[in-house]
Amino acid sequence: MNRQVLLFISLLSLDSVFGQVSYSIPEEMAKGSLVGNIAQDLGLEIKRLISGKAKIYTRDSDEYIELNRERGVLLLKERIDREALCTETALCALHFQIILENPMEFYSVTVQITDINDNAPTFEKNEMKFKISESAITGAKFVLERAVDLDVGINDLQNYELKPTDHFVLKVHNNANGNKNVEMVLQKPLDREKQEHISLVLTAVDGGEPQMSGTMLIVITVLDVNDNTPVFTQSTYKTTVTENSPKGTVVATVTASDADQGSNSKITYSITNTLDNVRKVFEVNAETGEVSLVGHIDFERSRHFQINLLASDEGGLTDSCKLIIDVQDVNDNKPEINIMSKSNVISEDAKLNTVVTMINIEDKDSGENGKVQCFINENMPFTLKTTTINFYNLVTDSDLDRERASEYNITVTCSDEGVPSLSSSVTLTLQISDVNDNSPVFERSSYEAYIVENNTPGLSIFTVKARDADWNQNARVSYILEDSSVNGVPVSSYVSVSADSGVIHADVGYLVTKVVAVDVDSGQNAWLSYKLQKATDRALFEVGLQNGEIRTIRQVTDKDVVKQRLTVIVEDNGQPSRSATVIVNVAVADSFPEVLSEFTDFTHDKEYNDNLTFYLVLALAVVSFLFITCLVVIISVKIYRWRQSRILYHSNLPVIPYYPPRYSDTLGTGTLQHVYNYEVCRTTDSRKSDCKFGRAGSQNVLIMDPSSTGTMQRIQNEKSILDEPDSPIEVS
Ligand SMILES: *[C@@H]1O[C@H](CO)[C@@H](O)[C@H](O)[C@H]1NC(C)=O
Repeated sequence: MNRQVLLFISLLSLDSVFGQVSYSIPEEMAKGSLVGNIAQDLGLEIKRLISGKAKIYTRDSDEYIELNRERGVLLLKERIDREALCTETALCALHFQIILENPMEFYSVTVQITDINDNAPTFEKNEMKFKISESAITGAKFVLERAVDLDVGINDLQNYELKPTDHFVLKVHNNANGNKNVEMVLQKPLDREKQEHISLVLTAVDGGEPQMSGTMLIVITVLDVNDNTPVFTQSTYKTTVTENSPKGTVVATVTASDADQGSNSKITYSITNTLDNVRKVFEVNAETGEVSLVGHIDFERSRHFQINLLASDEGGLTDSCKLIIDVQDVNDNKPEINIMSKSNVISEDAKLNTVVTMINIEDKDSGENGKVQCFINENMPFTLKTTTINFYNLVTDSDLDRERASEYNITVTCSDEGVPSLSSSVTLTLQISDVNDNSPVFERSSYEAYIVENNTPGLSIFTVKARDADWNQNARVSYILEDSSVNGVPVSSYVSVSADSGVIHADVGYLVTKVVAVDVDSGQNAWLSYKLQKATDRALFEVGLQNGEIRTIRQVTDKDVVKQRLTVIVEDNGQPSRSATVIVNVAVADSFPEVLSEFTDFTHDKEYNDNLTFYLVLALAVVSFLFITCLVVIISVKIYRWRQSRILYHSNLPVIPYYPPRYSDTLGTGTLQHVYNYEVCRTTDSRKSDCKFGRAGSQNVLIMDPSSTGTMQRIQNEKSILDEPDSPIEVS
C-alpha cells in the first residue's frame, strides 16, 4: 500500500499561533506507520514539543493517531478501515488538535483517509435458482440480485458479467439513485430435452486496481412442455408365432419413447386395427407394449397378421408402428381321404390295372406337414397308383378269383410327413362278382344203377349230382341227357333226367297230344307256328312251335289242378298274319272215372263258351247243373271205386285216355279208334302208375314202340292224324 502524505500548512498569525496541517493517508496502513512529521511541518523544535508537553486533543472516543514528541511525528495508533469509519461517505477524514503549554498553543491537524480497493463486490446469496418453462419465449426477462461493493469511487461496483451467454444476455439499468438493476433476458429458446439444467455465473466487478469481483451462481431448471411425440423404436416390427399357441403367449414387445418428462412422456399403447379380426386375436398391454395372444391362431386360416399399434403420451401426441406376425404351421391336421368315385363290385375277370376307386387326399397343413403318402394293407391283389399329386387310383394288380375270395376289405392309410406324423384311414369293401368261369363237375365220373325190366314209366332210377363253384345263376346246374342211343334207340326214349334235380326217371316230356292245323295258302303264308296262348298252369305244358306237340315240362304232382285247359294258337307267317285257336282240355287224374267226371264238365264248359251271352244267362242253371253233376259224379265215383276196390287192385295209370262210351267195346281189341276228340286225361304221380283198364282182372302191358319219337307213352286222339298207321299203345 502506498502511503500518501499531503501536507498543508497555513500560518494564520505569528503571535497567536494557529497552524493547520493536513495529511492524507490510505486506509488499512499498519499500526505505527508514520502519518506525518508534525514538528517539521509545523516548524516546531523537538524541545518545544517536549517542554510544551504537546498532546493530541480530539472529541472522538477512538484515537487512531498518536503523537511521538521525541521524534516530532504522528504515528498510526490503530489500523484504520475507511469503510468502517466513514461507510459510504466519499470524503473520510480525521480531525484533531495538537495542544502545547508554556505558552499554550494549538494546531489543527486533518488526516484524510483515502479509500483503497479492499472490498470486492459481493452478492447477498451465492446462488439463485430459476424454474423456466421450455416454452418461454425469447425476450423474457428475469431480474437478478444486485451485488454490493463497500468501496467507493472507482473501487465501487462498476459492472456485471454473465457467462455463458448462449441462452441469456445481461441487461443492466442505471437507476436514478446510482444503483444498477440487473436482468437476464432469454435470447434463445430453451429445450428441456437438450439441457434440463443450465448454470450461469453472474460476476460483478469494481474498478479498483487490482480489480475485484464477486460471483453468483444462477441455476436454471428448464420445465418440461409436451413438445415431443412418442417415437417407436422401429417403424415395423416382425415376429413369428406358432399356431395353436396358448392364450396369453407374449408374441412381441413394442417400445416407444418420449423425450418429454413426467406425464408428457407417459406412453399408452393400443391396437388400431378395425376392419380385420386382429383385435379378437391379439391385445397389447397398454403400459408395457407387450403384444399377447387372446384368441386362437390357426395357420390354415391366417398365415400373417399385421397389427397397427399406436403409442400416445398423456398430452395426446402419438406415433404408430406395424407389427407383422408370421404364423408358423404345426402339424395339426390329419390327411383327409375323399373317395371321389368307387365301385362296390368288380367282376372277377376284371383286367389288370382296372381302376376300382379314385381317391383324393387333402392335408390342410403346409410343407412337410402337408405331404401325404398313402398305402394299402398287404397281400391284396390291388395297388395304389398316384396319378397327380394327392390323387390316387386303387387298381387291380393281379388276377381276381371270386371262388377264392369274394370280398376284400381294403384299408387305405394316408400319413403326412410332419413330426409327429398324423394319419387317417378308410376301409373300402369290394365285392367280387361272379363270372361263369367254372364248369359243373359231377361228383362221380360214372354211375351205375339197376332197374328191373318192365318198370313203370317215370320211375325214379337214381340221382346224379354235379356241383359248380360259381355263384347263383352261374352255379345253377341243369341236367340234360346227351344224345346217344342204345341198340339204335335214343337213350332219351328210355330215361329222362330232371333238369333241376338231376333225378333220372324212366318218364318227363310226356307227349300229351298233338294239334295240327292246315293252311291252304302256300309258302310263307302257310308257314305255321303253334303257341300256348293260355294255360291253367303254364309251367306244366309246352307246345312245340313247329310241330304242335303238347308235352309236359315237369312232373305232374298231386298238387296240380285236375282240370287243365290249354288254348293253343296257330299263326301263319303271312302279312297280315292269320291265326286260329283251339282249346285243349286236359284232365289230370288218378283214375278213369275221375277223368270222366272232369270231361263232363269240360263238355258243358265248351258249349257255354260258344255263346258267352247265353252262358251268362244260363250261368245259374249251369251252376245248379254242375252241382248236381258233381253230386252224381262223386256218388258214382264212390260207388265205382267201391266196386273197383272189390274187384281190382288200385290203379295208378299214368295217362288214361278217355273214350266216349261208344268206344268202350274196344277194350281188349288192342287198337284204338281214331276219333275227332281232343279230350285227354292223365293221372297224377304217373311214376307209380300202371295202365289199368275197365275189365276186371286184366292188366295192361305197355310196349315200347321203336318208331316212336322218344316218349314212352302217348295217346293220340287227333282230328288230323287220323290215318297214322301205328298205334303207340297196345292194350291187351
Ligand atoms: C370286411 O369287413 C366286414 C365288416 O367289418 C366284415 O363283416 C367282413 O367279414 C370283412 N370281410 C373280410 C373278407 O374280411
